[in-house]
Amino acid sequence: MVCQNAWNASLYDDRHAFVYQHGADLIDLLKPQPGERILDLGCGTGHLTAKIADAGADVLGIDASSAMVEQARRNFPGVSFEVADARGFRPDRPFDAVFSNAALHWIRPPGAAVETIACALKAGGRFVAEFGGRGNVRQIVTALEAAIGGHFGRVVEDLNPWYFPSIAEYASLLERAGLEVRDAWLFDRPTPLDDGDTGMANWLAMFGEPCLTAVPEEGRSEVIARAIELMRPHLWGEGRWTADYRRLRVVAVKDDER
Ligand code: BEZ
Repeated sequence: MVCQNAWNASLYDDRHAFVYQHGADLIDLLKPQPGERILDLGCGTGHLTAKIADAGADVLGIDASSAMVEQARRNFPGVSFEVADARGFRPDRPFDAVFSNAALHWIRPPGAAVETIACALKAGGRFVAEFGGRGNVRQIVTALEAAIGGHFGRVVEDLNPWYFPSIAEYASLLERAGLEVRDAWLFDRPTPLDDGDTGMANWLAMFGEPCLTAVPEEGRSEVIARAIELMRPHLWGEGRWTADYRRLRVVAVKDDER
């Protein structure tokens, strides 16, 4: 299944710019070259796709959300974007590189995205990605689980819609698909949120919806308020909220013989 979030693309661009701002140094790792064909998988509103285009590469950004792709086209009319599901996307011609920032944790089953990446790459082509790794947003998820469980007097199973693998788990998936992992890092990236005391409520409004589908509409604001209070001792300080992000960053190369 793919996590169906009804993306608000302008809110994403306006209040959650940190998503692509943090991804900028991932482009240094990609090292896009003039004339290379590069696929940006899960391009969102296109900011990093445009940076890759600025380097002279021939880049295509794909995203499953038509709202995101429309916003990307408005933001960067000279860059190519397509609405496409990363699980089944099969390009006509292979790419020199596949790039992805903050998208792969939304895609299930993860193996379907990895298969697309393997199919999209030339032999010897590179895959450079960053997304939520094992332990990502642990305090946020724990607080949501407790708030929802407490509200309904039961534990909500399968609450967490995201895929946050360890290095070993993701490397195995890539290797099974014919990619050789050259480098991988799992690291904390505490991420300050904008908007002072409303920052966490805004984050939950943007990203937390899949966790709240089990909660009837009329109970949601109470659950959110309770979750925010449970997070406060861990994630609030110096007048702002900080999301407890952990990133998995990976560089892999498609085997020649595949
Ligand atoms: C992340 O970028 O780590 C993330 C974003 C939204 C929901 C969960 C994780």
